[in-house]
Amino acid sequence: MMKVLITAGPTREAIDPARFISNYSSGKMGYALANACAHSEFEVLLISGPTQLEVPINCDYIPVESAQEMYEAVEKHIHDVDVAIFSAAVADYTYASPAAQKIKKYGDTLIIELEKTKDILGSARVEFDFKGILIGFAAETENLLDNARIKLEKKGCDLIVANDILRKDSGFNVDHNQAYLVTSTGHQELPLLSKKALALAIIQWVQAH
Ligand code: PMT
Repeated sequence: MMKVLITAGPTREAIDPARFISNYSSGKMGYALANACAHSEFEVLLISGPTQLEVPINCDYIPVESAQEMYEAVEKHIHDVDVAIFSAAVADYTYASPAAQKIKKYGDTLIIELEKTKDILGSARVEFDFKGILIGFAAETENLLDNARIKLEKKGCDLIVANDILRKDSGFNVDHNQAYLVTSTGHQELPLLSKKALALAIIQWVQAH
């Protein structure tokens, strides 16, 4: 049985005990992948940031909050799998020193300095020495295909699933997604599909790979 690791959902980067920085990811894409993989005879490990979704049946599940926690969970488990699919919307920047107490409303402005998080997908080949099938997503608002190709090459992916997140009917927090499957030999434009159907198309690509 093939084993797959899937990252899903947003991350939350704490500012203080009451506030965090996050994004619009609902987890729907990653959970659709986990569901479809579990129904396609894969052993699934789902590593997910906070979502409102039910964990699909027959999946192992590790809940995480921050980009750092997601990094550590992936680092620990990626060696056990044949395929890794990174659909999470991981924060690129985090607040280095979250306040222990709720920040008070003193001044008219509040400046907080953010520092870069670790790139989990970008660590797979080098830091984690992952040799299996590596699939990343690219969420773009411009130059979709060019940026996807750059990500494919820079991060050593076999496939990038590229989606334009400016579309209202596709991407973040909706049930559909319009994507391009980008590989080193070219790209395939898929129509607007349910996230379930896109998940099945990705699985088909893996099985044909
Ligand atoms: O969750 P939904 O509401 O269903 O929305 C789905 C989605 C829009 C979140 C999904 O389709 C998607 O595009 N996921 C990737 C979002 C993203 O962060 O893309 P990116 O282009 O910034 O990152 C490129 C790749 O690197 C992604 O595979 C991402 O998971 C990964 N990454 C990014 C930063 C980081 N620190 N670590 C990572 O692993």
